[in-house]
Amino acid sequence: MDLMEYQAKELFAKHDVPVTLGAVLENAEDARAAADKLGGRVVVKAQVKAGGRGKAGGVKLAENPDEAVARAGEILGMDIKGHTVHRVLLAPTADIADEYYFSFLVDRAARQFLCIASIEGGIEIEEVAQANPDAVAKVAIDPLVGVDEAKAREIVAATRFPAEIADEAAVVVGKLWNVFVEEDASLVEVNPLVRLGDGHLEALDGKITLDDNADFRHPEHAAFQDRADTDALEADAQAKGLNYVKLDGEVGIIGNGAGLVMSTLDVVAYAGEARPGPDGTGVKPANFLDIGGGASAEVMADGLHIVLGDPQVKSVFVNVFGGITACDAVANGIVHALQLLGDEANKPLVVRLDGNNVEEGRRILSDADHPLVTMVDTMDGAAARAAELAALSSSEPGRTD
Ligand SMILES: Nc1ncnc2c1ncn2[C@@H]1O[C@H](COP(=O)(O)OP(=O)(O)O)[C@@H](O)[C@H]1O
Ligand SMILES: [Mg+2]
Repeated sequence: MDLMEYQAKELFAKHDVPVTLGAVLENAEDARAAADKLGGRVVVKAQVKAGGRGKAGGVKLAENPDEAVARAGEILGMDIKGHTVHRVLLAPTADIADEYYFSFLVDRAARQFLCIASIEGGIEIEEVAQANPDAVAKVAIDPLVGVDEAKAREIVAATRFPAEIADEAAVVVGKLWNVFVEEDASLVEVNPLVRLGDGHLEALDGKITLDDNADFRHPEHAAFQDRADTDALEADAQAKGLNYVKLDGEVGIIGNGAGLVMSTLDVVAYAGEARPGPDGTGVKPANFLDIGGGASAEVMADGLHIVLGDPQVKSVFVNVFGGITACDAVANGIVHALQLLGDEANKPLVVRLDGNNVEEGRRILSDADHPLVTMVDTMDGAAARAAELAALSSSEPGRTD
């Protein structure tokens, strides 16, 4: 789970990283009282899970509470890289002397953690790395040792933090490491980490990705989810224990096993290239949905309910490889799911079954003879058919819902 800036700052504060929390609001009018309390002159910052908010006009200075209301009004409802702004953070304006970049992340290839830091912060680190690679320090961290005092000193030296802040920087590095480890994050990024006019350091922005696999250790993290702008379908799927990710295309995808679903996305994207969708480009997968091993009727019905609930979906491709759960059980699951859904099932389904007990599975589906279901024996053939059906219904007049 990615956190928004204000949520990341809450975790920073918990671990004593220097930060100013400010006020989070959803209504522009509330900015008056909040700005007044924060000293009048504030920065109004869009809270969305996207970087580069400053460049996109999502970070604005307000000289007084009236201006804070005006700026909040401009920023709320704004679209930043496809994310609608529902909340703004009001923060006191910082007296910035210098902006640095700092991050801890997982270096999978090296099987280690990695610190990336630069005294040229504020702007995107990729730009710094390109224009001035020498300005970006990369320090590998042995996961068995972590960041002790010596490692913190090594990071400070490699980054070339100015000598007068080296001691404080080493302490802040240690605290950010505590955030990374104790919160089970896979990314902690501060850009900018600033040196203030008074010589002290402060995290002015924060990005944290929490490792969902460690959720069981952090019941308190669930509160972040509630306040996050999770897609309604994703929230519904999560409540039902389904592994669902909403994507931007027209072909709904249901499969059993993450690997199979991933390759299904690929074949549909490939088949879709030849089928212009609503925006003239090819039709694309609408989602990732892994219903897991036991594709019972209820799980299949839950899956279809979520996928059909996406108004962008024009056709659904159900791709199941029978293993422990044999194809006949899956076929029965599909038939019962369609009964359970009734009128809600209103888009064409292309089903490809293979694997354990495939003949029986196919027989069950062909006996059921559901008007919406087409069976195709190969994965490529089924993907092509699903893409074709999606393109067809996208181009049909009056079917632009
Ligand atoms: N509280 C603040 N006071 C003064 N300037 C700020 C403050 N917060 C952010 N800024 C300025 O705005 C820039 C962009 O803000 P930031 O929070 O990093 O958003 P993003 O990275 O999404 O653009 C910062 O690099 C900094 O120069
Ligand atoms: Mg930033």
